[in-house]
Parts: sequence; C-alpha cells; structure tokens
Amino acid sequence: MDVVVATGPLLEDWRAIHNAIIPTDPLSADDVAERATRHRLTLAYSGRELVGNATVRPPQDPDAIATVIVRVLPDHRRRGHGTAYLQHELAEATNLGARRIETVVLETNTDGFAFALAHGFVEHDRYVLDGDTVAYVDLHLPGH
Ligand SMILES: CC(C)(COP(=O)(O)OP(=O)(O)OC[C@H]1O[C@@H](n2cnc3c(N)ncnc32)[C@H](O)[C@@H]1OP(=O)(O)O)[C@@H](O)C(=O)NCCC(=O)NCCS
Repeated sequence: MDVVVATGPLLEDWRAIHNAIIPTDPLSADDVAERATRHRLTLAYSGRELVGNATVRPPQDPDAIATVIVRVLPDHRRRGHGTAYLQHELAEATNLGARRIETVVLETNTDGFAFALAHGFVEHDRYVLDGDTVAYVDLHLPGH
C-alpha cells in the first residue's frame, strides 16, 4: 500500500471518499481545505487504485492524544487494507509524538466498531452531539 498526503487537487479525492463513507457528515471543499491545515489527511493506493483515506489529528497537549481514523471504500474491504493503513498511520501518529492514540466511530458503524476492537481499541466514551441522533463512540489503544 502507498500512502500519500492529500494536498491540492487530491483533497477532492479525499473529500469524495469521506462523504461517500460518512454521508451523515458531508464536508465542503472549504471544510476539507481548513482541516488540511490542522490534520494529516492522506490517501491510500493499492497499485494505482485508490482504496481509502485517513485522518490523523496530531497529538494535542496536555496528554499528547492523537486520533487516527482510517476509511476503506466498500469494494476494497476485508483484504487487509484497513489493517495496513491503520498500522501506517499509527506509526505516523507516534512519530508526531503521540503518547495516547484514540479513534472514533459512529455506534451504527458495525464494520468500523468491529475493526477497532479487533485492533485492540477499547471504548471509553459514547455521546450524542447536539442535533444528532446517533452516538459517537470514542476508543483508545491501551498502553499507547
Ligand atoms: C473499518 C474499515 C477501515 C476496515 O477496512 P478493511 O480493509 O475491511 O479492514 P481489514 O481487511 O484490514 O480487516 C481487518 C480485520 O478487522 C476486522 N473486521 C473488519 N471489518 C469487519 C466487519 N465488518 N465485521 C467484523 N470484523 C471486521 C476483522 O477482524 C478483519 O480481519 P479478517 O478479515 O481476517 O476477519 C472499513 O470497514 C471502513 O472504512 N469502515 C468505515 C470507516 C470506519 O469505521 N473506520 C474505522 C475507524 S478506525
């Protein structure tokens, strides 16, 4: 798998994947451009084929918590891409100085929840944002 930082026109590819996988939270081009200034936004390729995108929110003080979220397009799932991509981005988060790594999934996202648990993440919070009906689940990697 090749992982590329999304800049310039690649941000549209990043946005298309985000909005296809998370239709409940569609982002505009301006939203993505703004996020790119704060987060590591990447694309993953298998050969020449675009298979997914990811967000790393870099470690924040005081506890140096980073958040890693990987997304794989439905046609490319269950072939190990999610695992390879997660390992890659966990290493990036650690390189950026993270002392704790978290992820977040919607409680209705059974694929994402099962994937996170299979990779050792443990739930520590579940909450519904104002105006939403579906809860977000926050998980972390113990020992990171
Ligand atoms: C979660 C996601 C990234 C998994 O991508 P993937 O390429 O299918 O992942 P992998 O092929 O590496 O799966 C690795 C393991 O995770 C677990 N897993 C993945 N999808 C699963 C599912 N739907 N149900 C149960 N376990 C699952 C399994 O243990 C799987 O191993 P196996 O295929 O040998 O059984 C993908 O489903 C996705 O993009 N979901 C929407 C976004 C999201 O929820 N991201 C998670 C936040 S970290």
